[in-house]
Amino acid sequence: MVKRIGVLTSGGDAPGMNAAIRAVTRTALINGLEVYGIHDGYRGMYDGDIERLYRRSVSEKINRGGTFLGTARLKEFANEEVREEAVDQLRKFGIDALVCIGGDGTYRGALALSKMGIKTVGVPGTIDNDIVGTDYTIGFDTASNTVIELVDKLRDTSSSHRRCSVVEVMGRNCGSIALNAAISVGAEAVICKEVPFDKEALINTINSASKSKRHAIIIVAEHTIDCEALAKEITERTSFEGRATVIGHIQRGGSPTCRDRVLASRMGVKAVEALMREESGVCVCSKNDVLTTMPIEDALKETRDRVSGLIDVFNDLL
Ligand code: F6P
Repeated sequence: MVKRIGVLTSGGDAPGMNAAIRAVTRTALINGLEVYGIHDGYRGMYDGDIERLYRRSVSEKINRGGTFLGTARLKEFANEEVREEAVDQLRKFGIDALVCIGGDGTYRGALALSKMGIKTVGVPGTIDNDIVGTDYTIGFDTASNTVIELVDKLRDTSSSHRRCSVVEVMGRNCGSIALNAAISVGAEAVICKEVPFDKEALINTINSASKSKRHAIIIVAEHTIDCEALAKEITERTSFEGRATVIGHIQRGGSPTCRDRVLASRMGVKAVEALMREESGVCVCSKNDVLTTMPIEDALKETRDRVSGLIDVFNDLL
């Protein structure tokens, strides 16, 4: 029987992580379990930077972005000796089960720990929305809304100056933020790894837009093309001036949306319920708005194509 649960956030922070920690903490307490917050992800586990959490420890957190427990990326956690030391720390605190909130790197750590005898459940917290098995990850909705808000602002200045804005958004290897944002702002073009990039077609699109509009927007997923170089080429080959904007980490911050707060709360509850059923090495998923669990091993297998349906919508509405 699980008695003491540890909760951590790891990898890139995502709005809604605090809501997930709150839900884990309160669900565990209601069920008579003790809860421990592990600071800075697997790094804090290794260092023994762990504190007991109470009902009030998670008050006034649900509205805040980031993660109040802190987060980190610890490459060394791939080494078994490092994990063994981290597990020793858990044993010192009597922690026998863990909720690990984060993306694929977090899941890899959680899976390894489950194989070392610690019961673990993963909760998908990443703005990238790139975890197989769940329709949405915690933080994706807030990040996408932040991108939309910022691009709407860019449009004001872009249009005033007859410019084309080339806007880089995050997503690591997944075009989910890019495509959702591109549809939502009515962009002229979207560049991400799921959409083949045809530069000549793009220049033609921008040239034709310049005949009837005062601005154009191109949304680019990070790690695909050089936005500065494209903006320069747009200046040289179209009647628009090109300007590149990299939104960067701003899109990871801010108060979570209603959707992220509710998703995170539901997933946090589900994670504790799974641990109380003695499930381990699994992660929480939302499929068609129904919460389930699936083996982390399966969730890590591939990056699901979650944008193909959106590509058609984007193209149809151009
Ligand atoms: O995984 C979340 C994410 O924001 C990605 O979209 C991005 O590629 C990466 O993290 C950035 O990482 P860092 O915060 O370490 O710069």
